[in-house]
Amino acid sequence: MAKKNPLIRPLVHNLHAYVPGEQPKIKGLIKLNTNENPYPPSPKVLAAVKAAVDGRLRLYPHPTAEKLRARLAKLHGCKPENIIVGNGSDEVLALAVRAFVEPSSKSKAQSPKSVVQYFTPSYSLYPVLADIHGAAKNAVPLKPDFRLPSVAELKHGKQWNFNAALTFVTTPNAPSGRGYETAALEKLCRTQKGAVVLDEAYVDFANENALKLALKFSHVLVARTFSKAYSLCFQRVGYFVGHAELIAALDKIRDSYNVNGLGQIAAEATLDDMKFYRANFKKIITTREWLARELTKLGFRVLPSQTNFILVKPPLFPAPAWLQKLRERKILVRWFSAPEVSDYLRITIGTPAEAAALVKAVRQLA
Ligand SMILES: Cc1ncc(COP(=O)(O)O)c(C=O)c1O
Repeated sequence: MAKKNPLIRPLVHNLHAYVPGEQPKIKGLIKLNTNENPYPPSPKVLAAVKAAVDGRLRLYPHPTAEKLRARLAKLHGCKPENIIVGNGSDEVLALAVRAFVEPSSKSKAQSPKSVVQYFTPSYSLYPVLADIHGAAKNAVPLKPDFRLPSVAELKHGKQWNFNAALTFVTTPNAPSGRGYETAALEKLCRTQKGAVVLDEAYVDFANENALKLALKFSHVLVARTFSKAYSLCFQRVGYFVGHAELIAALDKIRDSYNVNGLGQIAAEATLDDMKFYRANFKKIITTREWLARELTKLGFRVLPSQTNFILVKPPLFPAPAWLQKLRERKILVRWFSAPEVSDYLRITIGTPAEAAALVKAVRQLA
């Protein structure tokens, strides 16, 4: 065991940090491991970013991403006061923990005010954010096949905390890909006393979205990102939509210039070319359904997906062996060691050619 450096807080020393998917240095790999979009941003977005790379880089960006918030407000039928933009949606998720959750005190009995709650499996960043903040975690299992428990089932199960300071729901779910009905989410939100974040990182690939809940309930925030559907991971732009009071609280604690200037420009230009992106969503959904059919024929159990990835249970070998065998064939997919998903692989939907290469490799192995 490495000696503890007394300069570092024990909480940080003991922290299990978030593990991002591999960004390989080797060229020529088919990268289906981090849910990036296989299509580049619109030519108009690239042109807008290039046109902004000049002497203006010496200036600070707009501190509140004013223009972008105004555009997003128009898109979502709300006011700019209902929107906060972050350095990726990861940043706004972290702000929510800091703004709504009390760090837990070891000496006192556990208070719901210190509880960060989420389903398992869901986005693996939530427990890390809770740990960084010194909050308590309440990780509640989803139903078999990653379905959302009803409010009655949650009440019956007794583990769910209806008073938790903050509840995260990944919808559609990651890493399973399963979509949830807005009506079911609404029932859950209605019953929940603390803040609820509906993390809609993948919603553009889904049948429905729950944005209206952020405009209806004063304790509900919807998180969105430009990373997945809008091919902008590199620029790090995400946001919350929600009640102006919650947004103002988050705004108080964010860094002054949290969203980089080129990111703001790229996101604004993205909103000018939604037609381009809608065509991409369709292409990705078509490839997803093709890949699901092909892998099913090859003996994989493929869970229904409303995202740009599929969760699959492979035949013949354990999932980590598949991970390795596919890597040897230059195809990267993702495997999570968490027990509820360790029998599965998560495969990002790439281009039709990438999906065909995966199917070819699987045929050789199966
Ligand atoms: C469910 C979910 N939410 C949020 C994010 C973060 O996205 P970003 O910080 O790129 O906006 C991810 C990224 O993998 C995700 O899977």
